[in-house]
Amino acid sequence: MKTSPRQDQRIASDVRLGRGVRIYGFVNLYGCEVGENTSIGCFVEIQKKARIGKNCKVSSHTFICEGVTIEDNVFVGHNVTFINDLFPRATTCDGALQTDADWAVVPTRVKHGASVGSGSTLLGGITIGENAIVGAGSVVTKDVPPNTIVAGNPAAVIRRMAAETTPTRQEETS
Ligand SMILES: CC(C)(COP(=O)(O)OP(=O)(O)OC[C@H]1O[C@@H](n2cnc3c(N)ncnc32)[C@H](O)[C@@H]1OP(=O)(O)O)[C@@H](O)C(=O)NCCC(=O)NCCS
Repeated sequence: MKTSPRQDQRIASDVRLGRGVRIYGFVNLYGCEVGENTSIGCFVEIQKKARIGKNCKVSSHTFICEGVTIEDNVFVGHNVTFINDLFPRATTCDGALQTDADWAVVPTRVKHGASVGSGSTLLGGITIGENAIVGAGSVVTKDVPPNTIVAGNPAAVIRRMAAETTPTRQEETS
């Protein structure tokens, strides 16, 4: 879809938006992909090569970096931070500012139907399983199994949910 951003939105020309995407004010999106019907709240930044699926809700003040893949039907709360560099440095050993050539992106995936609570931080290199829930304010350091609620710093399993209490993929029910 072609975009004509409002004055209070920065949406680069290389952003790919599906039909029905809703984007609120003061966002900064570049080089990323957002699937149909997804909503992106105020003050959200989405970096290049990040991919957001269909029917997702990304709440205000969230930062989604390069290396993040968010599958369909995912809820991301307010002020969620994704991380793609576990040992960040401003400069190289020579004292020069680092460039993209000086570090490698660590990928993260949030699978179909999962929810990430507000104020959470997701360290790079992890997968949040299908329909899992990350409690508000968590620091997630490891993979989260499907249909499981985790919370805390570091996030630990609170309980597993019965499959019937979790949303299912549309193609499984039709
Ligand atoms: C985690 C959550 C889903 C509740 O799950 P639950 O299984 O119903 O958990 P309970 O409320 O029964 O609490 C179980 C334990 O986890 C603790 N807990 C609950 N949420 C927690 C959180 N976010 N961080 C740390 N601990 C948490 C409770 O204090 C309780 O501890 P205790 O056993 O020592 O008393 C919910 O608290 C939460 O954080 N949801 C995210 C909300 C959000 O961010 N929404 C965004 C839009 S506003």
